[in-house]
Amino acid sequence: MRGAVNDTRGTLRVAVVRGDGIGPEVVEATLPLLEQAAGQEGTRLQVSELDWGSDRYLATGAVMPADAAEIVGGHDAVLFGAVGRPDVPAHVAVWGLILALRQQLDLYVNLRPVTSWPGIPGPLRDGSGVDFVVVRENTEGEYAGIGGRTHAGTIDEVAVEVAVHSRRAIERVARYAFDLARRRNGLVSLVTKSNASKYGYVLWDEVVAEVAADFDDVRYEAVFADAMAARMIERPRSLDVLLCSNLFGDILSDLGAPLQGGLGMAPSANLRPGGGAPGVFEPVHGSAPDIVGRGVANPIGCVLSGAMLLAENGLVEAPRALERAVAAAVADESARTPDLGGRGTTRTIAEAIGEALATAIV
Ligand code: NAD
Ligand code: IPM
Ligand code: MN
Repeated sequence: MRGAVNDTRGTLRVAVVRGDGIGPEVVEATLPLLEQAAGQEGTRLQVSELDWGSDRYLATGAVMPADAAEIVGGHDAVLFGAVGRPDVPAHVAVWGLILALRQQLDLYVNLRPVTSWPGIPGPLRDGSGVDFVVVRENTEGEYAGIGGRTHAGTIDEVAVEVAVHSRRAIERVARYAFDLARRRNGLVSLVTKSNASKYGYVLWDEVVAEVAADFDDVRYEAVFADAMAARMIERPRSLDVLLCSNLFGDILSDLGAPLQGGLGMAPSANLRPGGGAPGVFEPVHGSAPDIVGRGVANPIGCVLSGAMLLAENGLVEAPRALERAVAAAVADESARTPDLGGRGTTRTIAEAIGEALATAIV
């Protein structure tokens, strides 16, 4: 935890990267709510705007500056919208920004809670009471960025993408997951494909079993990723902490989004537990080019990521108040955005959250 506001009075230095597509729309709706909630707990947000993203890339050739990690390091946290735009190759935009930040700041945990909300329709017959969290390894695996291509444009063209799984990275994220399960419902489900993979996921199984032995108060199981996808839909309430490699965590957290009401509802935090770097807090969704500029993006994933930002920085009441305010706001169908089946807008749902927040802390 960085910049802890122990006396509940102080200043939190927040770097804001609005980014591309609906990123700026959801951040615009979120920031005043974070300021309001933090203010109610006696904390002021000192916001620095960073113009990183695809516009910057098209203007300068770089999505973010070379000293980005240093700039971010002068803050307590980063609030991030989204990156990606149809006229910039997706891998250029994401490797230039969010993946670079995760690697350069060594944000080795990507925390993605999956929680259902009363009254929000989901795809399951009985989707109430879902409450689990994806702990995603965030620095390597299929996202190592190592590989190459040869015989370009010929029938013999080949691309190689190397997945890297190191004992060090597996062990540290596993310890985080077991520690979290201890404070939740006491079950870690490791997600691998150690039947098809002969090396990387076999190492995961071995290292995580070793870590499990240090947590005899936490139940532990290993589940194959394909079976886990089915279980998330069939028996989501049987889950507590899902410990995943980078790619499986990415895919399964989007699979978890409909259980929360949709991609617009899902929050996340990129963390370096133990300190040394500010966390980067971002909605799970991307830049949603299909709805950009229409004012209908659901800001709640971003708002809840902001709640995680406040909680990680030592605030207690403000994040809880934000969650209660979101629950109250979505209960009113008229304020909901279209993805939640409503006819409201980014602005109407943000206003409803703000109004609920004003009465949430006495
Ligand atoms: P996406 O999450 O942007 O969109 C998928 C679907 O969900 C779309 O139909 C979209 O309209 C809907 N959606 C997403 N967020 C929503 C919200 N807040 N409210 C209402 N509807 C919402 O995923 P995609 O279409 O696969 O990717 C689009 C771009 O975003 C690509 O360039 C991709 O690389 C990038 N991306 C970035 C991030 C990030 O910045 N962290 C994450 C995922 C994808
Ligand atoms: C996410 C996104 C990123 C990922 C993309 C933008 C590289 O999908 O944060 O879930 O795959 O991690
Ligand atoms: Mn994703």
